[in-house]
Amino acid sequence: MRIDILTLFPGMFAGPLGESIVGRAVENGQVQLYLHNIRDWSRDRHRTVDDAPYGGGAGMVMKADVLGPAIEAVQSLSERAPVTLLTPQGQVLRQPQVVKMAKRPRLLLVCGHYEGLDERVRLLHVDEEVSIGDYVLTGGELAAMVVVDAVVRLLPNVLDNASLLQESHHQGLLEYPHYTRPAEYGGLNIPPTLLSGHHAEIERFRRQESLRRTLLRRPELLASAQLSPEDKAYLRMLEWEPPGEE
Ligand code: 6GU
Repeated sequence: MRIDILTLFPGMFAGPLGESIVGRAVENGQVQLYLHNIRDWSRDRHRTVDDAPYGGGAGMVMKADVLGPAIEAVQSLSERAPVTLLTPQGQVLRQPQVVKMAKRPRLLLVCGHYEGLDERVRLLHVDEEVSIGDYVLTGGELAAMVVVDAVVRLLPNVLDNASLLQESHHQGLLEYPHYTRPAEYGGLNIPPTLLSGHHAEIERFRRQESLRRTLLRRPELLASAQLSPEDKAYLRMLEWEPPGEE
């Protein structure tokens, strides 16, 4: 996958995207990551990228005549890709959107800054807008890194595929709790089922822990999870109210 990121702060990306799993995917050539400094498309000697808003008010606005040409120039470097703007006004990122993005041959991420960008850039050059949650960051850079991390780990051969199928949010449920040695820690023991060697029972125990945990922490996820009749029976035992049933 080719990933292009347009940002005013390319230096922010080196650490997070150079280390660990994403760093290895780049080194192995599974990901081609290109950072572009939006300032390189400014055309005055002060390298201006923002200006005061028409109509007055606080804050600065990213200039359309800098950001627009920057996006078009980067777009033209390779096969056309949907343009994703990172902004707190976007759709909140969830795993299905991450999965969708991971299927693309190319991502083009634009990091918003200041009070925002000129509306005409959004209208003319942006295909989708993504937020990473309902809180405000100083810019889209950290959000772009979150998107890259979430997408890259789904690419073929980046992670062990078996763990992808088990993880939290994969099936719309939270993951079951994990244990490793020692057998006793702080007075707490391993759930006996996990020591039983009965694979079917272990699987059932984990499924139930996953359901119980989701009910306790994120009950709203159960409405869209894929639940078997056995799952539903277990949840009803925990006094779960199935949505839309009398
Ligand atoms: Cl994508 N940008 C900013 N500035 N703040 C955010 C965000 C993005 N997602 C959540 N908060």
